Amino acid sequence: MKANLLDYIDNYKKKIEKEYQRYLQNLDIPVQLKESMLYSLEAGGKRLRPVLLLASYEVYDHDIQKVLSSAIALEMIHTYSLIHDDLPAMDDDDYRRGKLTNHKVYNEATAILAGDALLTYSFEIIANDPLLNDKEKVTIINRLSTCSGPKGMVGGQILDMEAEDKPVSLEAMEQIHTLKTGELLKFAIYTGAYLGKATDMQLKHLTEFAYYLGLIFQVQDDILDVTGEQEKIGKPVGSDELNRKSTYPKLLGLEGAINRKELYVEKAKLALLHADAQASNLMGLTDYFSNRDH
Ligand code: IPE
Ligand code: IPE
Ligand code: MG
Ligand code: MG
Ligand code: MG
Repeated sequence: MKANLLDYIDNYKKKIEKEYQRYLQNLDIPVQLKESMLYSLEAGGKRLRPVLLLASYEVYDHDIQKVLSSAIALEMIHTYSLIHDDLPAMDDDDYRRGKLTNHKVYNEATAILAGDALLTYSFEIIANDPLLNDKEKVTIINRLSTCSGPKGMVGGQILDMEAEDKPVSLEAMEQIHTLKTGELLKFAIYTGAYLGKATDMQLKHLTEFAYYLGLIFQVQDDILDVTGEQEKIGKPVGSDELNRKSTYPKLLGLEGAINRKELYVEKAKLALLHADAQASNLMGLTDYFSNRDH
């Protein structure tokens, strides 16, 4: 891994963290709600989705102020999805981002509401961004609701639940992964490129890139659930096994899952080439997604 890519990620991670403070710190809302929203946002997290959005924008343009609201909104929706994913009714996990899960610190009702609040506030942030024109706002809000809603992440989460405890085909599992994980990554890539004024052809190839990146990301998440260390991944190891989830290692074995991931890396990089983004940080980020240990 190139040291400058790690610096790049770290730099933008810090920028994002400063930025969401700005959106939340002065918000006049019920104290318990604000605390629990901030608890999960501040718990850490790699911030890979906003970094990806910024990197995608930078393939085509450079004034990143333009994309910050979308990046923050995306991280808020991702954080809400994790709060709900950890609830007893779903994966029932006690640790997330190295800390107790939201419902363990507050209570289930507060965790549900903190998730709801992060979801809805994210749209408000985009709608109120003075740097975006009306057409851009509607386009981004439209994409964000599609990628995170029933046709996207939420749809994937219910398919993931339904696939517990039963054998599923590779195709069915990939559909689950594409929806539950890939769609939010797709939003990151699409929105960065859209606001950077990529051509339709470049957008088409980047959408293909995002598809493979989503699969790479989730294969590695599944692998880390087997081979990872809780101190590094910040969440329990073996949660998938316990919940009898359909995962790549379960379906293909560990080696099969790794081979599959490498195939996706090749396909993702080819799509980047076609999108004229082969010299961008998206290339290094693909390897980072594939080899991450947390
Ligand atoms: C975890 O996402 C949930 C999945 C979609 C697999 P991340 O691994 O990006 O979690 P954080 O944001 O770093 O905590
Ligand atoms: C959850 O997938 C993805 C979303 C929250 C949409 P997982 O259940 O595999 O995520 P982790 O492993 O708990 O982070
Ligand atoms: Mg889950
Ligand atoms: Mg989970
Ligand atoms: Mg997982």
